[in-house]
Amino acid sequence: MHITFRQLTVLEAVARNLSFTKAALELHLTQPAVSMQIKQIEESIGLPLFEQIGKKIFLTEAGQEMYNYCRSIQQQLEEAENVIENLKGIKHGKLTIAVASTANYFAPRILAAFSNEHQSIKIDLDVTNRQGLLQHLEKNDTDIVIMGLPPTGMELMAESFMENPLVLIAAPEHHLAKKQNVSIHDLEQETFILREQGSGTRTAIERFFTEQGTKILTTINMNSNEAIKQAVQAGLGLGIVSIHTLEMELELNRLAIVSADALFPILRHWYIVYRKGKRLSPTGLAFKNFLINNANKLWSIPS
Ligand code: PGA
Repeated sequence: MHITFRQLTVLEAVARNLSFTKAALELHLTQPAVSMQIKQIEESIGLPLFEQIGKKIFLTEAGQEMYNYCRSIQQQLEEAENVIENLKGIKHGKLTIAVASTANYFAPRILAAFSNEHQSIKIDLDVTNRQGLLQHLEKNDTDIVIMGLPPTGMELMAESFMENPLVLIAAPEHHLAKKQNVSIHDLEQETFILREQGSGTRTAIERFFTEQGTKILTTINMNSNEAIKQAVQAGLGLGIVSIHTLEMELELNRLAIVSADALFPILRHWYIVYRKGKRLSPTGLAFKNFLINNANKLWSIPS
């Protein structure tokens, strides 16, 4: 059997996504290039790896076996990289980190303070939504993930390091902005601007309304906190966002936090998360401790 590591990477991506198109996108390749690599592996092992039924592709038995080996080879390589990092020590270390889009309002500040203390480390930061973070955890391809509620169904180490209150926001001239003790009934006829499916904030908001026994009638979806804040400011509707996203708007009085003490804030927490059994590099470990000890000092919730 003659297979290159590149081909194993392609096989792993196609098998995990069960899609040539998604694998091609993820690996920045064209779909024919992905199909060609898979064909070459199939020729090399003498068995098909995938079968197509209708529009879907499935792993064959040989495909499943090869996928299992791909994953364990990738894990071994990751471990080897960590061992080498250990030998180099933190001085020339590398920190690979993925954070929720909402956490990116404070993460750069913490990273800047950390890299000030350890000037020669290299940082690789991916900012994505909760769904993207789950994929990072699944692939185990970052040292650390910063997210809201860690998922169940995956063996993880998770430590909460800071509160993440979600507040109700409106344009200062909105009729609810000046009202005191807004109730759930006041919200029933309002338009809400929500984050996209796959966002942790959105999941928390949906859970909140279900617990309140209420359905919001009109929602507009937007895939960034910045877009939501702009839309709320323009009077398109109400928003529910993490208070961490609001520092500037509150300071400049561009947005108002609606008074609804019985309902808000929705109390959430930020967690530092990685796969159970992962051997954190000295840099990863140092960052984890730095974050836990300093996050609250480097960030203050706007009053
Ligand atoms: P998101 O992040 O809404 O930007 O996905 C928050 C979270 O992980 O809960």
